[in-house]
Amino acid sequence: MICSTVLILLSLTYSQAGPLKFESPTPPRYLSLRLNQSSFSYQIGISETSTWLNSAPIVFNAFGKTYSTADGTLKNVGVRRDNDIDRLGSYTSTEWLFSIELNTIVSATFKQYTSQNFVIFKQKFYNDTTGCSVHDSGSVISHFPAFQVAVTTPGPLGYLSYGGGQFASDYRLGTYQPGKLNIVSGLASGPFALLDQTGNAVIISPFSEFMSSSLHYSGSENSIRWGLLGEVDTVPAHFATEYIAFFGSMGINQAYADWGRLMREFYGKTSAYRDSDFTINYLGYYTDNGAYYYYRTENATMNYEQTLIDVQKYGEMQKLPYRYAQLDSWFYPKDNTTEGVITWVALPEVFPDGLEGLNQKTQWPLVAHNRYWSNLTTYAKQNGGDYDFIIQPPLAIPTEERFWDDLFRYSRTWGLAVYEQDWLGKEFDTLNATLTSARLGNNWLLQMGRAAQNNGLTIQYCMAESRDVLTSLQIPVVTQARASKDYHPGNDNWRLGVTSIFADSLGIAPFKDNFWSATYQPRNKYNLNEPNPGLIAAVATLSTGPVGPSDKIGFSDVELIMRSCNADGLILKPNKPAMAIDTRILELAFRDGIGPEGEVWSTYSMINDYYFRIILAADMNSSFSLLPSHIGSLSTFIMKNAHTTVDAIAPVPFTGHQQLNLTTACTKSNFCLYHTSMQFSLSDRKVIIYGEFSKWVPMSRNRVMSFTVGSNDIHLELQGAYMEIVTFLFFEDMNPVYVKCQIGDSGRATMSLADRACQQV
Ligand SMILES: *[C@@H]1O[C@H](CO)[C@@H](O)[C@H](O)[C@H]1NC(C)=O
Ligand SMILES: *[C@@H]1O[C@H](CO)[C@@H](O)[C@H](O)[C@H]1NC(C)=O
Ligand SMILES: *[C@@H]1O[C@H](CO)[C@@H](O)[C@H](O)[C@H]1NC(C)=O
Ligand SMILES: *[C@@H]1O[C@H](CO)[C@@H](O)[C@H](O)[C@H]1NC(C)=O
Ligand SMILES: *[C@@H]1O[C@H](CO)[C@@H](O)[C@H](O)[C@H]1NC(C)=O
Ligand SMILES: *[C@@H]1O[C@H](CO)[C@@H](O)[C@H](O)[C@H]1NC(C)=O
Ligand SMILES: *[C@@H]1O[C@H](CO)[C@@H](O)[C@H](O)[C@H]1NC(C)=O
Ligand SMILES: *[C@@H]1O[C@H](CO)[C@@H](O)[C@H](O)[C@H]1NC(C)=O
Repeated sequence: MICSTVLILLSLTYSQAGPLKFESPTPPRYLSLRLNQSSFSYQIGISETSTWLNSAPIVFNAFGKTYSTADGTLKNVGVRRDNDIDRLGSYTSTEWLFSIELNTIVSATFKQYTSQNFVIFKQKFYNDTTGCSVHDSGSVISHFPAFQVAVTTPGPLGYLSYGGGQFASDYRLGTYQPGKLNIVSGLASGPFALLDQTGNAVIISPFSEFMSSSLHYSGSENSIRWGLLGEVDTVPAHFATEYIAFFGSMGINQAYADWGRLMREFYGKTSAYRDSDFTINYLGYYTDNGAYYYYRTENATMNYEQTLIDVQKYGEMQKLPYRYAQLDSWFYPKDNTTEGVITWVALPEVFPDGLEGLNQKTQWPLVAHNRYWSNLTTYAKQNGGDYDFIIQPPLAIPTEERFWDDLFRYSRTWGLAVYEQDWLGKEFDTLNATLTSARLGNNWLLQMGRAAQNNGLTIQYCMAESRDVLTSLQIPVVTQARASKDYHPGNDNWRLGVTSIFADSLGIAPFKDNFWSATYQPRNKYNLNEPNPGLIAAVATLSTGPVGPSDKIGFSDVELIMRSCNADGLILKPNKPAMAIDTRILELAFRDGIGPEGEVWSTYSMINDYYFRIILAADMNSSFSLLPSHIGSLSTFIMKNAHTTVDAIAPVPFTGHQQLNLTTACTKSNFCLYHTSMQFSLSDRKVIIYGEFSKWVPMSRNRVMSFTVGSNDIHLELQGAYMEIVTFLFFEDMNPVYVKCQIGDSGRATMSLADRACQQV
């Protein structure tokens, strides 16, 4: 399936000549690619009037030598032009064919689509080619596309370079100038975007073979290049990798959303598994790093089964609706040197009745953690097991899907719902086998993913690098991934605003990790307090990822946790993750004081085609005047969240040039959360809906399924837990009106503003 915009443009192709326009305001802006065949160079610009990127030489390494268009060692043997159509639309391709030695052919292809907002670069090895390695896994053996880092006119452009582990959360921003580039290069590299201050952005990323493709920045040659991993020595005949340059003119958030939509549509990744993942939708209890019960039970005489049963009892007593639990690396046997996994089963001293026992007694579905495989793993044939593994001490990697299939089928019997694969980066980056193969890494994740899908599981990635999360475009059941470093009380792993843009674009729910709901957790192993439980609880809810408290039994802030969910534990979340607004990203890149010096994120719930927006401001180092246009908002009123300030939450108009002053009073401990709503004109009064008073997200699709505005009344179709009591706040001609109501047996109710009551349905 391709997006409708592309379809419309396709129909234009046949009726009109000249440059086509892609969703752009006047004057039309589009991605312009200019090829120069006499020098094998190319340029990328916005329309014909600017040049953002100038090519660097095309390079292939083979037979222990370097062949380059710079010195003619890469000899052109032809040019092939073609017109064709694929899932992305119709395109014109230009393939530059080169010969190296021994009649070995490689090529560089440009695919220019009629939609003119993206181009695809393809590099291909026609023959089995050996001696390609440059003996540096941080580098690449082939360069195409490749660009000189040069001063651009007008002004320096900014960049956003995603990279590092935990969903590329070690991203960098700066200005694109020679000698000043601080981008993530090599194994940790991710999508790279150039931005200007008028909303233009070009995102460049791998488009296929994600596991074996990298971005490499050479400071000495002052160029950035995309290609195959630097230690791949043998490339099979016809192996190709592709890269995309994608243009957007409506700001970086929109550019990422559109780029991601194109990637997901091309690979057929829908939101079905993410939307229906139980552990994304319901409250869970977590035991990973940062949690109170991480490698620790309630006391020396209690095992983990007893501890988790007591967590559940405490939850029931307090009406904390934990619906599942996460088990971390403490439950399975590891080797003593690298702590690699030996067998993925429960240690008897941890769960004397096995995981089956825990599952039977609690009835909790389980999210269970796994890490890299030890070279001693009992599953490997080399160690007497049944399955093909490559063993390279101290680690090992499975190479057949049957292994995953058997592991997952068995794990279903003890309640596994989500397979959490942690240490993805380490497994890939440590083994020679993965680093030297064009295909092994890809096969590994695809086999795991297919087996999970076949066994009714979803997958959570942890410590995933960009190559892993991009590969998940091909794995429908990867629904969630950690998007910041591990939680430790008081640390800043709540800063998800920038990584969430990347995560959501790929169709993955970003996970903030576990959190403490209350400052004091007596005798905790970290010797720490959590100074900002409100902020981290709100961020977890606004992330749309799992919400997983990790408190000591008896020490939860129940009221705080319940701001996230209904009485059944259903998370009352917005439509998409809260993300750093464009002007914040530009501030991080340009540092010119125009954007906020603090975290400013926005998101929304959309109900009946109406936007109910949410703005979070925290850690503000100076004040910032937010305009409706910063968050794409039109005519609305804005209200403070009931729980983040002591002020009244009275609506203030927020339209046109009206500003919301986000001041340094929006800190981490006293963060600011605002909600927008439109004003509805009834026959005799004007009404603003604030929504559910006691929640972080007062208007969530998980609570308000729809509403109708009549001439004298507003009706809200609500859902909730059996007999749950909910209170909604409205403003009638600016006067607050609270409507309290009880959800019926069916889990439904219709609230009437005029009646100040509900009808159970
Ligand atoms: C193409 O490259 C050649 C060789 O560098 C140069 O002389 C020529 O001016 C270029 N053509 C264009 C249109 O830029
Ligand atoms: C390399 O591939 C090309 C294109 O398929 C073919 O014509 C050529 O014979 C191959 N070279 C060798 C050495 O096999
Ligand atoms: C461990 O905790 C349990 C439950 O709270 C309690 O019954 C038991 O006495 C405790 N044991 C020790 C040694 O503190
Ligand atoms: C790890 O060390 C413990 C304690 O020294 C020992 O009992 C256990 O057998 C060791 N396990 C492995 C797999 O070597
Ligand atoms: C992996 O590569 C490193 C560096 O090239 C080398 O020292 C080591 O022996 C290799 N290990 C295996 C198992 O091939
Ligand atoms: C496993 O790896 C360790 C190094 O961590 C090495 O000492 C040991 O010999 C290896 N054992 C096997 C069976 O490969
Ligand atoms: C605010 O300033 C502090 C101290 O310089 C810094 O650590 C923090 O990252 C800044 N916050 C933001 C959101 O930039
Ligand atoms: C925002 O608030 C700060 C602190 O109260 C104040 O100094 C600043 O002038 C205000 N800015 C605007 C545009 O109102």
